[in-house]
Amino acid sequence: MTPETKKITVGIITISDRASAGIYEDHGGPALKKAAEGYGWQVLAEAIVPDDVPAIQQAIRSCNAQGCGLILTTGGTGIDVRDFTPEAIRGIMRVELPGFGEVMRAESMKITPNAILSRCLAAIVQSALVIALPGKPQGAVECLSFVRGAIDHAVKLAQRVPTSC
Ligand code: MTE
Repeated sequence: MTPETKKITVGIITISDRASAGIYEDHGGPALKKAAEGYGWQVLAEAIVPDDVPAIQQAIRSCNAQGCGLILTTGGTGIDVRDFTPEAIRGIMRVELPGFGEVMRAESMKITPNAILSRCLAAIVQSALVIALPGKPQGAVECLSFVRGAIDHAVKLAQRVPTSC
């Protein structure tokens, strides 16, 4: 397999106090795993962490250390007092990619007016593209599909010093 055809390697992080405490079952992680595999990607790492900035940051770094070029998070993008996912990512990112959040919100607004409540985003952290998706499993999968077209190129660029597009 040449580097050009190498499978995208994925880490999936569910961010939820209740799922991480076992109070309810994680449905977002498995839904994203199914979607990722459907896109032909290889899921290398999965984690469930509480809505806690250091725990989120540690999980992202750990996924990247395990070789994940794409890290998908689900949950914690809203306005609950325990929604910290954007703050956690912004605390460790090299650069944010605002277009991802803009497209995810704009496309989701065609499905639900509540989409405006999500602060979903994407950023480059270390050598990975991190995409923070909403917590609702269907919403997470939908948002991923809206930005699917840009992922291969963004993951490739995240893994090297970009010289040109
Ligand atoms: N986006 C899509 N595509 N579909 C959805 O069902 N749910 C919204 C929004 N984005 C939703 C969506 C809702 S109800 C909320 S509160 C926000 O995402 C934030 O969710 P989170 O805090 O679980 O990340």
